[in-house]
Amino acid sequence: MTGRIPDAFLDELVSRSDIVDIIAARVPLKKAGREYKACCPFHNEKSPSFSVSAEKQFYHCFGCGAHGTVIGFLMQYEKMEFLDAVADLAQRAGLELPREAQAPRDSGSADLHELMQQAARFFEQNLADNPRAQAYVRRRGLEAKIGTRFGLGYAPDAWEALLKRFGTNEEERRRLFQVGLVLERSGGGGERTGGFYDRFRDRLMFPIRDSRGRVIGFGGRVIDQGEPKYMNSPETPLFHKGRELYGLYEARQARGDFKRLLIVEGYMDVVRLHQAGITYAVATLGTATTQEHLNKIFRQTHEVVFCFDGDRAGLKAAWRALENALPLARDGREIKFMFLPEGHDPDTLVADEGAEAFESRIKDALPLSEYLVQQLIAEVDLDHVDGRAKLKALAGPLFGRMPEGIYREMLADRLASRVGMPANKLKEFFTAGQPKRAGSPPELPARQRGRISVGRGNLLTQAITLVLHHPAAAGVIEDPELLGSLNKAGVSVLKELLEQAATAASASTATLLERWRDRPEHARLTQLAMLDPLVADTPAAAKELKMAVEKLLQEYGPGRRMDELLKKAQELGLNYEEKAELSSLLKSKGRP
Ligand code: CTP
Ligand code: MN
Repeated sequence: MTGRIPDAFLDELVSRSDIVDIIAARVPLKKAGREYKACCPFHNEKSPSFSVSAEKQFYHCFGCGAHGTVIGFLMQYEKMEFLDAVADLAQRAGLELPREAQAPRDSGSADLHELMQQAARFFEQNLADNPRAQAYVRRRGLEAKIGTRFGLGYAPDAWEALLKRFGTNEEERRRLFQVGLVLERSGGGGERTGGFYDRFRDRLMFPIRDSRGRVIGFGGRVIDQGEPKYMNSPETPLFHKGRELYGLYEARQARGDFKRLLIVEGYMDVVRLHQAGITYAVATLGTATTQEHLNKIFRQTHEVVFCFDGDRAGLKAAWRALENALPLARDGREIKFMFLPEGHDPDTLVADEGAEAFESRIKDALPLSEYLVQQLIAEVDLDHVDGRAKLKALAGPLFGRMPEGIYREMLADRLASRVGMPANKLKEFFTAGQPKRAGSPPELPARQRGRISVGRGNLLTQAITLVLHHPAAAGVIEDPELLGSLNKAGVSVLKELLEQAATAASASTATLLERWRDRPEHARLTQLAMLDPLVADTPAAAKELKMAVEKLLQEYGPGRRMDELLKKAQELGLNYEEKAELSSLLKSKGRP
C-alpha cells in the first residue's frame, strides 16, 4: 500500500510532523536528557519506560516493546489504518495528499465503493420487501435492530435482479463484474444484460465493511437449506479475504475502546454475539487467521481470544492459529484460546445459555502459554527415554518461531517447571535445532529472517545501523553503486539505505524506516534503529561508516572473490558455475 504514496511525499510528511508534538498531545511527556519519557500508553506500568527520540523521530517502550515512527504511533494509538494516519498528518502539516495516495481511494475505487454501497442498499430494501427472507432472519433469532446495524439484506431469487437495476450499459456491467457482483455467462444468452448474471441469488446478504465502514464485499447464505451454504465475494480491487475481519468496523462502532477481540468462525456467529452484547466478536472470512489479521488485531487491542469448536477440526484449526500467532507473541499481549462444547457454535451457544455464561467462558479461555504447554505435555510421555527427545523435536521449532524476549523466557520457564526439568536444560533444547540468531526480528516469518546478517559486531550490520542512526552521514559514501558488486547477502539493503539517505531532503531514522514499511526487512531495520547509537554525532558516524564500507569492499569485493576462486581452482578445482563466475570476473576486470 505504501507503494502508492511517493517516497518523497512520505519523507516530507514525516520530517514536517514532529513526533514529540504528536505524542505529547496524547501522552504526558517529560524531558529526560536527549529524549522524552512517559509511562507507556500501550501497557500498564508505574515507572516510565516509554521514550521518544526527537532526533530519530522514533518512539520505543522498553517494557512492552512497542515502537515506531509518527505514522506508526497514530496507527497504534489511534487505531488508524496506514493511509488514514498519512492523511491525518498531511492535513496537520498543510500538505496536500498526492494524487497517487488518493487514487486507490477516491477516484476509480470511489466509484466502486459507491457501487457496493448502492448494492448493499438494494439488498436491504429487498429484505424489507420479502416476507420469506424476513421469516428466516427471525427464525435465526435476529432482531430488526441488529439487522440494521450490520446492514443485512436479501438478494432476490432471480438471475438478473441486481444486473437490471445497476447494469444498464456496458460500462456499468463491467464495473459490477469488477466488484464481483455479477458473473459472466459461459455460452451466450442474456442479450439485454450483456452476457452477465447475478452472483448472489436468493441469499441472506452480509455486507463486509472495511475499517472505515465502506462495503467492500458480501457474504451470502442460502435461505434455509442448500449448497453451497455460504458464498463470498471473490478477490476484487476492493476485497482481499486474507486481510479483512468481518465485524471489526461494527465492533469499533459499538465501543470506542474495547478490551479484547474475540475471533469466531462465521458471519452468523458475529451478528448473534453482537446482538447479545458481545460486540467485540469478529470473524475471519472462511480462512485461517493470518499474520496480517493478527497485525491488524494488535493495532486495535492487546488481547485476542480465539474461539473454536470443540471437535477435531476445531482443535486442528486452533493449533494452526497458535502457530501463526507465535511470531507475534510478546510481553504485554494476551493471546487466548477457548473451546466450545461439541455440537455448538457461538451462535447456538449464546442463544442457549445467554451472554453472561458465554462471557464467563471467554474469561476462562486458556492463555497461549497454558494451551501450548498442555498440548506439548499431552503429546509426550516424559517417563520414557525418548520423551525428552520428542519434547525437543516438538517444542524447538515452536519456540524458534517466537521473538526472543521476556515472554519466550517465561514460557520456557513454565514448561520446564511443568515437565520437571531445569529451565536451562530446556532452553538449550529450544535453540538446539535453530541456527543462532541473536535478536531475530519478531515480525518476520522464519524463512524471511536472516536476510540481513545479525549481531552488532557484524560489519554490514554496523554500517546499516550507522546509516539508520545518522542518515546525514551517508553522504560520505560517494558511490554506493560500488556496493552492488559485493558478494554478500544483505548488502543491497545497505546500498539502498545509502541511496535513500542521500536523496531525501531531510532524512531521519523515521523517514528511512517508512521507506521500508511494507518490506520484509522492515522489522529488522526497526530493531537496529532502536539500539543505542554507536557514535554520538554525524562526523564520527561518517568516519565509522566510511571505514566500514571500505572494509566491506575489501572483504567481499570482486577482487577478493576472484582470488578465492583462483585459489580454489588450483587446490580443488572448480565446478561449472564457479568456472563461469570466474570467467566473468576476469572479463570484467579486463575492462577499463
Ligand atoms: N464459510 C464459507 N464458505 C462456505 C462455508 C463456510 O465462507 N462454503 C465460512 C463462512 O464465513 C461461515 C463460516 O465459514 O460463516 C462457518 O461456516 P459453517 O460452520 O458451515 O456455518 P455457520 O456459520 O454455522 O452457519 P449457519 O449458522 O448459518 O448455519
Ligand atoms: Mn452456525
